Amino acid sequence: MADIYTGGDDEETIRLVLEKGLAVRNVPKWSVLRLALARSLHIATPPSDSLDRIEDRKNGSEYHLEQVTGRGLGSGADHEPRQDYDAAIRALLSVYHDTDLFADTNAYKRLLQRHIRRGLREFRTGWRVGHDFHDFLYQELFSQHQGSLAQEFSLTEELERGLTEIGVRGEIQKTLHGPRLTRFQLHLPDVNDLDRLKRGLEKLSFSLGLQEQGIFTAPTRESKVIGLDVPRPRDTWESIPGSRLAEWIASYDAKGGLPVWPGVDVLGEPVMLDLARAPHLLVGGTTGSGKSVCLHALLVSLLRGPSRDRLLLCLIDPKRVEFEAYKGLRGLYGGEVFSDSESTLCTLQALVDEMDERITRLAELGARDLAEAHAKGVEDLPYIAVFVEELADLLMQSRASEEPLVRLAQKARATGIHLVLATQRPDAATFSGLLRSNIPARIALTVQKASESKIILDRTGAERLTGMGDMLVATGQAEPVRVHGVRVMADDIAAAVTVFNEGAQ
Ligand SMILES: Nc1ncnc2c1ncn2[C@@H]1O[C@H](COP(=O)(O)OP(=O)(O)OP(=O)(O)O)[C@@H](O)[C@H]1O
Ligand SMILES: [Mg+2]
Repeated sequence: MADIYTGGDDEETIRLVLEKGLAVRNVPKWSVLRLALARSLHIATPPSDSLDRIEDRKNGSEYHLEQVTGRGLGSGADHEPRQDYDAAIRALLSVYHDTDLFADTNAYKRLLQRHIRRGLREFRTGWRVGHDFHDFLYQELFSQHQGSLAQEFSLTEELERGLTEIGVRGEIQKTLHGPRLTRFQLHLPDVNDLDRLKRGLEKLSFSLGLQEQGIFTAPTRESKVIGLDVPRPRDTWESIPGSRLAEWIASYDAKGGLPVWPGVDVLGEPVMLDLARAPHLLVGGTTGSGKSVCLHALLVSLLRGPSRDRLLLCLIDPKRVEFEAYKGLRGLYGGEVFSDSESTLCTLQALVDEMDERITRLAELGARDLAEAHAKGVEDLPYIAVFVEELADLLMQSRASEEPLVRLAQKARATGIHLVLATQRPDAATFSGLLRSNIPARIALTVQKASESKIILDRTGAERLTGMGDMLVATGQAEPVRVHGVRVMADDIAAAVTVFNEGAQ
């Protein structure tokens, strides 16, 4: 009898990781199981027992402990190479779960399988073919520490030298370490140095070896003091775990609305925006910049948020892969995730009809918007948040989808229907004039060219971000806020879906 079982989805993940991710020949499948185990052990909360249920057994597979942990293979004695890590792994799991798994082999195998399947699910949700798998793994396994390295990191002398080189005389008064950047508060006795500083920022980045990543300036409240936000090396970054979302939501006291938290600001404080007021949002960024992870942060915020008992999500995913994790959600508009162009078009048209009906209904109620209707005790009008995972793909498959999207963008705001459109290709063809002028809130993740930043934000800057969920968030007229995204993982999504479904019972 085998020890560890996988499902069809797991096997597909293993295949993709081997063929496209690791891209090396003759590596056995179980090596991916080991990576998955490592990934799962890195998550502080234990894997849920729902992972014991294997839906697609037919396309699944079976493994023996000999393969996964090396049980019974070379033990390292008498100069034979060590291959048997079973005792070590059993000890690790015993510590992790605070039980003696040496006494209970069945429990050991069950937990091992749970961890492996959770790790594979993380790969499935977090990594995409086309993104660098090694880089992904590095991020997943090694960049979770909580900022202790940041404290040790000093750039002050280099920065002082760089400032002298561009002819700026200033004094660094304070340094503040955020999750990824260090903010240097620079006192400029001569105000004319401010122009020199702004003109010299590119040279300063060059002098500090920051490559395409930029130094951003930030205003401070003190006179003649400006903040310089300087990116640190990646191994000093602090990752923002998805579990923070639940904390922020719990301490948010306003009722109603659609608050979402894309991440934290440069100094680590949470940043919230209300999608109900936004009222529509564009998320743009190059491939691998963190758009999908950002959408997950917004979705998890909504599923756990104050309006979760009156919320429907309309999920449109022309790429077919990103919204898998929401398939079991009870609050799906139309009961499914839409991916083909025909059903998507029908759905968008149905939303336009829904909007028109709601406009009439609100007029009858004498309510200006959905929040007022809710305040008058109306129960049967939920918020509808519409997420499009790749706008460019959708429009390429069906140009006709643009019309209902524009109608919704123009008129849906008061009726509680809100759009979140993501795209890899922020260009004039995808984000056309009519959509643009009706989608005021924008999130720019890292883009390749300054011109793309201009399309998303009406200004440059996003081409100088640090990638991996680093973004500029613009709502309305104010200056965009620099935000480091929450690193939402499959576990966070699964937990949010469960919380939502339990509430919907
Ligand atoms: N907030 C974050 N913190 C840390 N790492 C992140 C964050 N967001 C994304 N990443 C890293 O970047 C990788 C790519 O993210 P994501 O899949 O969201 O990109 P994308 O913009 O959707 O790409 P594509 O356009 O190809 O779909 C993730 O697998 C993860 O390793
Ligand atoms: Mg994506």
